[in-house]
Amino acid sequence: MTMSTQRVAYPFFATCMLLFALQIIYGFIMGFAHMGFDVLHEWIPFNAARATHTNLLVVWLLTGFMGSAYWIIPEESGAELWNPKLAIAQWASLVVVGVTAIIGFHLNWWEGRKFLEIPRPLDFLVVANVLAFLANIGMTVWKGKRYTTTGLVLLVGLTSAALLYLPGMIWFDSQVLDSYFRWWVVHLWVEGVWELIMGAIMSYLLIKLTGVDREVIEKWLYVIVGLTFVSGILGTGHHYYWIGAPKYWLAVGGLFSALEPLAFLGMALYGVAMARRGGKTPDNRVALMWTVGCGIVSFVGAGLLGFAHTLPQANIWTHGTLVTAMHGHLAFWGAYSMVVLAVISYAMPQMTGRALYRRWTAEWAFWISNSGMLAMTGAFAVAGITQVYLERRVGMDFLAVQQAIEVHFGGLVLAASLFTIGISLYIWDFIGYGLPHPEALAPQPEAPRAALGAK
Ligand code: HEM
Ligand code: HEM
Ligand SMILES: [Fe+2]
Repeated sequence: MTMSTQRVAYPFFATCMLLFALQIIYGFIMGFAHMGFDVLHEWIPFNAARATHTNLLVVWLLTGFMGSAYWIIPEESGAELWNPKLAIAQWASLVVVGVTAIIGFHLNWWEGRKFLEIPRPLDFLVVANVLAFLANIGMTVWKGKRYTTTGLVLLVGLTSAALLYLPGMIWFDSQVLDSYFRWWVVHLWVEGVWELIMGAIMSYLLIKLTGVDREVIEKWLYVIVGLTFVSGILGTGHHYYWIGAPKYWLAVGGLFSALEPLAFLGMALYGVAMARRGGKTPDNRVALMWTVGCGIVSFVGAGLLGFAHTLPQANIWTHGTLVTAMHGHLAFWGAYSMVVLAVISYAMPQMTGRALYRRWTAEWAFWISNSGMLAMTGAFAVAGITQVYLERRVGMDFLAVQQAIEVHFGGLVLAASLFTIGISLYIWDFIGYGLPHPEALAPQPEAPRAALGAK
């Protein structure tokens, strides 16, 4: 830690841990419901559990990105955070909006638009909140001593993510138009601007953990940004196949989304190549494991499993089934959950002055959670392929099929239990670190050559 205001990241990271744990609980509620034990139905019907599970995911990841930005931007800019008090107020208001939304879902106050269920009045509060966040990190960059590619890509990624929230707030009476613009948010986030955020965070961590020159690492970042934009923007078309949009989207979406795995391949090679080039193992080895792991698992979950159902010829069978959930889990986990867990693993020892990464729990948390998530992906795959076959080839009724595949959710719940053990170890370590400690402030100057782009 080089700037004392980097500590503002702590409440964001702690909130991440809490919301992540809650998200997992709602996952289990749905897992059991799918097994036929929908015992909570009267209080938490499936739709409320699903909206809570997926929106908690989005909120804890965004909270994690904000915490990461408050950690990274002051260090990259060589300046203290512009307004730490505003950051704390912004954190508190984020928590208020989040809690209100979750309670609302249970009282049937929701929009029924997957991932964007938060009702419009709350959307305006989200906008105000994000504006305060962007002003804070934007001013820090502006007033800072230097501009770095890593810092700027992170800022551009976060600003674009905020702008892309707006199309989802426009009101349409037409279902087609509503779906069309919902994808501007959902797809252009995860297959567009969030990739910039992920690339920038990986770049920061690789610079810190591998010792490879900043110039080399940031050159790769440009390649990833380029590949993301070339493929991801028109790749949105893979969601327009069956919603009533014009037919040419079949060709456009198929072609460009088939190129998207290249950006994720770039991300995986990025991590592996830089770690190997660095040569020596950092003291905080587990932070590098999360960073490189993020590149590799996102390539498998987003790149390979995304490609598996992105061509119209495959998607016509798999659309809206558990095959989608299979891909959704490994992609979100590999790309965005792992990158947030990587920053937290890197930042906590510095913030608190404690080296808990030497405990056995740190690396076990990594391996157990990843094994669990791979097994969950397998369980969703088996359930999904069986569902496609019975429902769309054999022609069985939707609900009869759901009953036929209950058994596979037994497998899902077992796999999810393994995953949860890994995450519990991670959260256990997080709690073990305790609160940030003022004496932990120890400047760590970078090699002078690395100050590329200094003002
Ligand atoms: C980290 C990046 C990614 C994440 C987090 C992600 C996540 C998701 C999620 C959650 C859905 C379901 C969305 C909904 O129905 O509202 C979805 C759908 C889809 N994804 Fe991805 N994805 C990523 C990258 C990719 C890539 C690179 C491809 C293609 C190569 C891809 C192909 C698809 C397709 C075709 C669908 C539609 C499935 C259907 O028709 O039901 N995804 N993705
Ligand atoms: C560990 C326990 C978990 C369990 C038991 C679980 C289970 C489930 C279930 C049953 C669904 C609904 C599938 C359906 O529509 O029928 C679901 C949806 C979803 N979950 Fe999880 N989940 C867990 C953790 C996670 C994690 C850690 C992530 C992200 C990293 C995640 C991301 C998602 C996403 C994106 C969807 C929506 C998928 C789609 O739209 O098709 N889940 N989950
Ligand atoms: Fe997409």
